[in-house]
Amino acid sequence: QDSPANHLIQLHEGAQKLYHHILMNTEIGQPALDYLHQRGLTDKTIEDFGLGFAPDQQLLKQYFDQQKVDYQELRHTGLFIENQSGELRDRFFNRVMYPIKNESGQPIAFSGRLLVKADDQPKYLNSPETDIFNKRRVLFNFDQARNVIRKEGAVILFEGFMDVMSAHQSGVGNGVASMGTSLTEEQIYAMQRVTKQVYVCYDGDTPGQRATNRALTILRDNSSLALGVIQMPEGMDPDEYRKKYGEEKLASALQSARETPIAFAMHYLKSEHDVNTDAGRLEYIDQVLNLLATVTSPVEQDVYLTQLANEYQLDKGSLK
Ligand code: GTP
Ligand code: MN
Ligand code: MN
Ligand code: MN
Ligand code: MN
Repeated sequence: QDSPANHLIQLHEGAQKLYHHILMNTEIGQPALDYLHQRGLTDKTIEDFGLGFAPDQQLLKQYFDQQKVDYQELRHTGLFIENQSGELRDRFFNRVMYPIKNESGQPIAFSGRLLVKADDQPKYLNSPETDIFNKRRVLFNFDQARNVIRKEGAVILFEGFMDVMSAHQSGVGNGVASMGTSLTEEQIYAMQRVTKQVYVCYDGDTPGQRATNRALTILRDNSSLALGVIQMPEGMDPDEYRKKYGEEKLASALQSARETPIAFAMHYLKSEHDVNTDAGRLEYIDQVLNLLATVTSPVEQDVYLTQLANEYQLDKGSLK
């Protein structure tokens, strides 16, 4: 079908093939390929996700000019930046390119990562919203993960694209990620269409824990999905964990490090308070009690009350 949307997708397919070819088969792509190999990604994973490299040479513009692609069409791709005189220049350069795909697996946008950190540039640069790319709707890897999610009966929500790819390479194919923003209703509906269970597996650092807390609240308020949390140890993200301990260890941690939202909330509240002071401890206990008051299962409530009572040598009856 020759609709404007289809044409935009075709241009993204062209760009993706070009970026991928540069990464895999050219001299200028070699540093980027070395970088991905150093991070421990295999060629299979690079192929599965269609990764590429955008060098610093205005290559995409030249490529489309050779094909006589219309100026207005190029403007609508989001792949170029327009200067004051209306000239178009490649938006992405010196970046490893991760294609963002729709549910049919067609590329509709890109996220580009710097090879080397620079203070004056964002680590990740995303395509702007276009006629085919609405970042509220997209879940990275949903196209490949959908059938695995159905089979496993659960989806794992990661914080970063690298975490999704690391899990995939480790044989855990039911991972997705939002676009570095907080979870949207549209993304929740997409997940809810294929599963009843979601595990939030964000980074083990403080921002990741805060984001987990936020995601759980959004999921609770906007869905009937059963919720769980997967906690990465030592403040790591899943990709760092795979790099350090290997694929098998990551795969088993994604199974064994699961906890309930209440257990997560108790750890989280504790980390947000200074429980070595009386005031901090009292506020922590107060907030846990508020939390446990929302637990409808009496058994579950009792388990955590017991835990809290034992932790601070308190009388369970008075807590209750
Ligand atoms: P690596 O350093 O490649 O391992 O990335 P990461 O996935 O560990 O990144 P991080 O935990 O810092 O951030 C998680 C996600 O937030 C990323 O996958 C991006 O989607 C998004 N993100 C991070 N940095 C930026 C940024 O500078 N700009 C934008 N737009 N998004 C970002
Ligand atoms: Mn290929
Ligand atoms: Mn992070
Ligand atoms: Mn991370
Ligand atoms: Mn990372």
